[in-house]
Formats: sequence, C-alpha cells, structure tokens
Amino acid sequence: MAIRLSQINFAYDISKKTNVSLNFTLHDINLEINLKDEMIAFVGHTGSGKSTLVQLLNALLLPTIGKISIEDNDKTFVLEKKLKDKFINDDHYKQTKKYRKFLLKPLKHNIKLKELRKKIGLVFQFPEYQIFEETVLKDIMFGPKNFSLSNEEAKIKAKEIAERMKITDLLDKSPFALSGGQMRKVAIAGILASNPDVLILDEPTVGLDPQTKEELLTFLVDLKNTYHKTIILITHDMDVISKYIERVIVLKKGTIMYDGSKIDLFKNKELIESCNLDYPTIVSIMMHLKEYLNLNDLDVYQYNLDDAMNEIERCLGDNHE
Ligand SMILES: Nc1ncnc2c1ncn2[C@@H]1O[C@H](COP(=O)(O)OP(=O)(O)OP(=O)(O)O)[C@@H](O)[C@H]1O
Ligand SMILES: [Mg+2]
Repeated sequence: MAIRLSQINFAYDISKKTNVSLNFTLHDINLEINLKDEMIAFVGHTGSGKSTLVQLLNALLLPTIGKISIEDNDKTFVLEKKLKDKFINDDHYKQTKKYRKFLLKPLKHNIKLKELRKKIGLVFQFPEYQIFEETVLKDIMFGPKNFSLSNEEAKIKAKEIAERMKITDLLDKSPFALSGGQMRKVAIAGILASNPDVLILDEPTVGLDPQTKEELLTFLVDLKNTYHKTIILITHDMDVISKYIERVIVLKKGTIMYDGSKIDLFKNKELIESCNLDYPTIVSIMMHLKEYLNLNDLDVYQYNLDDAMNEIERCLGDNHE
C-alpha cells in the first residue's frame, strides 16, 4: 500500500472576490509514504499545516488543487483536481475570476471515502471532537458498526481492543467523565476497532504523564511490530522522535522543508533553527557539555543514555591520555 501526494495545494477559505488575497495553508506538497511496518512523524511550528496535511491523507479534507493517490493491493483510489498545465505559471490567469471559480469548484470523484477512511484511521488532535456516544463501549463500537459489522460483532471487536489497550474498566463509563489521557485512549481504541492499515495520530502524547506517554508509545510500537500497522504521528516532542521514529517530515508555513532520517535532521542546525524545532534532551545536554567542558571531540548525536555515557567516557578518556 502507498499514499502519494502530488502538487497538493490547500486553502480553507477562498473568496470569490479577486481583490481578496488567496491564503493557501499548504503549498505544492509532494510526498510519498510506502506503507510498511514503520513509524513516521510530522513536525513543525504551530500553524505550519500538520493537522491540515494529515486530514488530507485520509480524505477528511480534499485538495484545492493537486492529486492524492492511494494504492491498495488490487485498487487505486485517486482524488484529483488538476489545473491545466498552461495555467500553472500564468500569473495573469491567477488574478482572474475564472481562477477563483476553478478553486471553489468541489473536487469531483467517485470514490467511497468511507472505504478509504476505514483503511487510514485518524485520531484527532482534540479527541473530545471524536467522542460522542453515551458509553465508552458504544463509542468504540461506532466505527465497526459504521463499517457494516453487526451490533454483536462490533461489541466483540470493541471489547477485544479495550482489553489490548487495558481500558476494560472504562467500558461502562460516560466518555465525558474521563481524564484527558483516558479520553485519548478511548479515541484511539475507537479508530483501531475498524482495523485500519494506517493509524495517524495528531499529537497523541500531549498532556499525558510520563508513564502514560511511554505506555501509549510502547503500545504503538507493538501495533507496528505485531500487527504490521504503519503509524504516522504528529508531535512537538523531540524525545519521542529520538526514541521511536526513523523518518521525519518537517513542515514550515505549509511547505515541506525536510523529509528524511532523524539523524540527518538533528545534524542540520540551520534547519532546526529556521523551523523552530528543539533538540532531543540528550543531544541538548551533550551540546552543553561539549561547550562548557571544551570537549571538542565529543559526538553530541547520541539518542539514548547508555550511548551518551559511553561517548562521554570515551571522550574524557581520550582527553586524559
Ligand atoms: N478549520 C479551519 N478553517 C480555517 N483555517 C484553518 C482551519 N484549521 C486550521 N486553519 C489554519 O491553517 C493553518 C494551519 O493549521 P494547522 O492546524 O494545520 O496547523 P498545525 O501545524 O497542526 O498547528 P498546531 O501545531 O498548532 O496544531 C493555520 O494558519 C490555521 O489557522
Ligand atoms: Mg495541529
């Protein structure tokens, strides 16, 4: 399975009036995600377009211009709104009413979006927007029922997921009586109950205590390794990136600035600074040690405590020889 985005541009609001400037949230996004057992992260300053982009990945939002294709074993879903080639670089055309009309025209397609959303599950940044039934059990059952399981089948599925997520004690409660962390788990369970191939989570660790955060991330790693799901996260937490993620996609003002390994990202000081990103805590401490102790030879790019200690010992040993 693969998700491909080509030349995606997205605007929330488009005025018909040509004297009102156009405000695109995403610009010329090209991205390919080949779905395998992998954890990918989107990072970027607040307002950079991360939540918007992941909503396009599961067709909750549709492109204003551009093409999304999702290849599944035997099927390809294509969502496309194409600007004629001759207009792509035509600044005069882009000042006209015709262009506004083109932008405002809804994207036409004959795809069952429900089918697509079953394959690519999205857990919202604010899980309370995703929860609406009177009990947790009913809430988790909603997805599978919506995707055509019977009531009984949906109940079995929901209980199975709740057990895996260790939230069976919550099943009879009202979702609105839960803590933030519990609510997030219920929202994740609700999406997982439909058995998506890809699970997208928008800032899943915000507001969780350190133990709950580690539990959730370990659970996601298990989903990836044991159930072969692709996990896509949005996070501001560089310690999460450093410990769990390989491929990182950096957004700035609606544009992709970087798509590659975390190792190369953290070595790119200019990019880190220009995109307002932090370093992981260990790298940051190593950078301070290097500066204050004049350890010129210290390799600061260490991603766990053992490696960091070994590198400090090596460097101090070398310095004492
Ligand atoms: N429903 C909406 N209607 C109009 N504009 C929106 C809407 N949602 C987001 N925007 C705008 O789109 C831009 C990108 O927002 P988005 O929520 O995608 O950013 P983000 O990277 O997820 O930010 P954060 O880290 O704060 O969650 C922002 O300027 C925001 O104001
Ligand atoms: Mg967001």
